[in-house]
Amino acid sequence: MEYKNPNVAKVAKLLAKKFGELEDKRAILRAPELGALYERIKTLPAGKARAEFGKEVNQLKQELELLVESRKSKVESLAPIDVTAPFDVNVKPEDRPKLLTADNGSCHPLMAELEKILDIFAGMGFTAVQSRELDDDYHMFGSLNFPKDHPARDEYDTFVTDEGLIAPAHTSIMQNRVFKSMKIPIRAVIPGRVFRNEDLDARHEHTFYQLEGVYVDEDINAGHLVATIRAWLSSYYERDIKIKIQPFYFPFTEPSFEFAASCIFCDQKGCNICSHTGWIELGGCGMIHPNVLREGGIDPTKYTGFAWGFGIDRLVMLKYNIEDVRHFHSGNLKFLRQFA
Ligand code: DAH
Repeated sequence: MEYKNPNVAKVAKLLAKKFGELEDKRAILRAPELGALYERIKTLPAGKARAEFGKEVNQLKQELELLVESRKSKVESLAPIDVTAPFDVNVKPEDRPKLLTADNGSCHPLMAELEKILDIFAGMGFTAVQSRELDDDYHMFGSLNFPKDHPARDEYDTFVTDEGLIAPAHTSIMQNRVFKSMKIPIRAVIPGRVFRNEDLDARHEHTFYQLEGVYVDEDINAGHLVATIRAWLSSYYERDIKIKIQPFYFPFTEPSFEFAASCIFCDQKGCNICSHTGWIELGGCGMIHPNVLREGGIDPTKYTGFAWGFGIDRLVMLKYNIEDVRHFHSGNLKFLRQFA
């Protein structure tokens, strides 16, 4: 609409622009510029000029009200959107996103590798048991021989809900459940997503995958542990891998070890990846602590067992020489398509 009064015309132009930018369209009716025009009416001397000015201000308000109404009916007349669809199903098929159709998708490299790892363990007689992504203090610490308030708990700083539920910092949370639910001999591998309060860098993520393993039977010793880890690593990397274990501390194993594998890149000649040591640290392991067996309903005077835990991300990084763990969760197609 054309306004004769330059002030009203100026405000009308300004509000038209503002209207386009507003999320809550009704807010245009409360615009201070419109209020100021109404204030101005009162200051003008009574007469023809004031009447004409007042009329135009009212017209502007009506125009804005119509605009708001028309927007409302436009929104109400739109067909509902299926929020479960990854795009607006109301658009024509040719206008739908083309980037990632179902036939373009592929298995995530971590999951593809996990399948291979589980296959190797299945061949060695291990049953796969799924871990979980929310747990309690008992499974995270108590059942694993962490005394209350023990400083060893600090190593597993993770996310906790207001209700006190814990995003597990390791797959060892499943040991007690496995001991209670499976019959001896127990041979289980437990993959799962774990969470840690970490400073993120190329080697540390707040969310990653672990694979836990447990073996319980009569007369099981650390020799069985080393042989088992060596056998599956050699199978996974398709070459003869040597294993080195060195003493460590975990509350749930006694003795406890860290294990390292001979470097797959230089065959122990020394390279950047193994920091010229010939060895690459892969995880923790040990003989299951008698308290942990007892807590799981197993008599530690009759049975012994070993357990281990390693990061799957790290294993896959080594296999493909991936330099940064953060690629895995980046969703970057350039990275992912190399494994498709
Ligand atoms: N839960 C340990 C961690 O995340 C890894 C681990 C070490 C698991 C020794 C085990 C074990 O089962 O025996 O740091």
